Amino acid sequence: MKTELLKITDDLSPLKVAGEIIKNGGLVAFPTETVYGIGADGLNATAVRKIFEAKGRPSDNPLILHIAKYADAEKIGYMNPMAKKIAEHFWSGPVTVIVKKKSIVPDAVSAGLDTVAIRMPSSQIASRLIEYAGTPIAAPSANLSGKPSPTRFIDVCDDLNGRVDMIIDGGSCNIGIESTVVDTTGELPVILRPGGITREQLEEIFGEVEVEKHKKEGSSDYKPKSPGMKYLHYTPKAKVTVFDGDAVAKISAQLEENVKKGIKTGVFCKDTSSYPCENIITWGSSASDMANIMFAAFRDFDRMGVDEILCELPGEDGLGLGVRNRIFKSAGFDIR
Ligand code: TXA
Ligand code: MG
Repeated sequence: MKTELLKITDDLSPLKVAGEIIKNGGLVAFPTETVYGIGADGLNATAVRKIFEAKGRPSDNPLILHIAKYADAEKIGYMNPMAKKIAEHFWSGPVTVIVKKKSIVPDAVSAGLDTVAIRMPSSQIASRLIEYAGTPIAAPSANLSGKPSPTRFIDVCDDLNGRVDMIIDGGSCNIGIESTVVDTTGELPVILRPGGITREQLEEIFGEVEVEKHKKEGSSDYKPKSPGMKYLHYTPKAKVTVFDGDAVAKISAQLEENVKKGIKTGVFCKDTSSYPCENIITWGSSASDMANIMFAAFRDFDRMGVDEILCELPGEDGLGLGVRNRIFKSAGFDIR
């Protein structure tokens, strides 16, 4: 398939063409404030199935429906009081609500569940694209299944050029990790996937919020409510190893050992002067800085051809919870 590339800067009107592609059952990769998504008409089961094919995504992993105005949420799901409150405080923005679905939503989107995930992105490009398409857009992250989510145009091209009808170049995504997925069907809000809206922000509104624990795949009590959480995720080609606690001492020792063994090693850390390493990328000074470049850095380490990435971790506050969740999964829960 020939993929059309469309660069968007200030003028959003060229997105009409992209909207037409979606209307006609095609696939368009587009930026949002979190990560790039690969979108199709969310009410057209045939179009939605193409997403799974293009990504190599298991079909039991449901998709998020993206909307541009609140009224559309009511058309696809039963917006309960908790979901409404989240929408009121955080939409448009990086949070997705899980609500009971309406019958208009194809099974291909919900993967047979009786719920649907709904999100209203704040990205102007995403929002305008949805308006032009005139339908909710089903969109997972625009990576091949298992790879780090793309936050830059070049990363989307690496994964999807030739697999979708169009890729929109809208520059880099602001947040860098995906939306927070919140199950609103129970008594308390449950964070199924930590992301762009933090636990603290939700606690401010609701008082108490539950966070679904991520567990190592294969452990006997591992039955995630969010089907996507059980798959191998966010993995660069290089092995990722994360270090908690006194990371500098532990990483320095590991680095020395790797050099002796001839293992080409990258370090992803706060302060690059901490390590004598050529393949080193700083993640900045806060968890939100790290969220912003984490997926891009993983892909850059692969371009450098490193065999192993040694990673420092931020704390659990703010975006740290989401960053740690993604990194733990990238590392296959190998935490030293
Ligand atoms: O920021 C984001 O959310 C990005 C951008 C493109 O909007 N999208 C994204 O989609 O991350 P995806 O498909 O990569 O992740 C969606 C997550 C998966 O873990 C999926 O299992 C979960 O949401 N999910 C979707 N529908 C669900 C449902 N009905 N119940 C529980 N979890 C659901
Ligand atoms: Mg994804």
